[in-house]
Amino acid sequence: MSHEKVEKNLGLMVGLIIVVVSLGGLAEIVPLFFDSQVNEPVEGLEPLSAVELEGRDIYIREGCHVCHTQKVRPFRAETERYGHYSVAGEHVYDHPFLWGSKRTGPDLARVGGRYSDAWHRLHFYDPRMVVPESNMPAYPWLFEQKVDPTQTATKMRALRTLGVPYTDEQIANAEENVRGTFEIQALIAYLQQLGTAIPEQR
Ligand code: HEC
Repeated sequence: MSHEKVEKNLGLMVGLIIVVVSLGGLAEIVPLFFDSQVNEPVEGLEPLSAVELEGRDIYIREGCHVCHTQKVRPFRAETERYGHYSVAGEHVYDHPFLWGSKRTGPDLARVGGRYSDAWHRLHFYDPRMVVPESNMPAYPWLFEQKVDPTQTATKMRALRTLGVPYTDEQIANAEENVRGTFEIQALIAYLQQLGTAIPEQR
């Protein structure tokens, strides 16, 4: 019987398994390329401003994504705590995605607007000042270092080639907008817009 042939021939079985898994994978992945819900921005989604974009780079540089996810999963326990679950259309301008996979700290996908700028400043200067039991590291150097304004336009142009709709005007003004900004300001500006493209539904 042909079934017996497959079961007794390891090479053949491995080959057939690869074929089946590949076809199954393609059947799941390929339709997503054509699904507008997945690859089109949600209504009103704006690319990050020059300052917010620099804040995002500081977030990456400091490894915040190692302890924080940016993805609210569609479960009751998550939406009760963080707000509306994350949808793909919120992330189409994210290159690379910062969804993360480990939560030492809370998810940050909807942290925008949750705390005042002043709260964030204290929290980054020393998290224990506002959350006594916190084990998040302090980031005092963000209050001393300024963002390098000469690279922002280049970053925006690179993102434009990936489909982020920056205008010529935004790119031309980037250096001017970023000059003199402390890293802490850029990081907080970035955090304060996180998750705000979708109206609050808590
Ligand atoms: C070692 C793991 C770790 C790292 C790295 C880390 N955090 Fe945290 N973060 C935590 C923990 C734990 C908490 C919860 C306690 C607290 O609020 O301090 C937290 C809380 C927060 C909160 C408050 C969230 C809320 O909903 O209450 C924000 C905002 C935040 N972190 C941002 C950042 C940013 C930005 C960075 C990078 C500069 C960063 N964290 C790096 C562990 C970390």
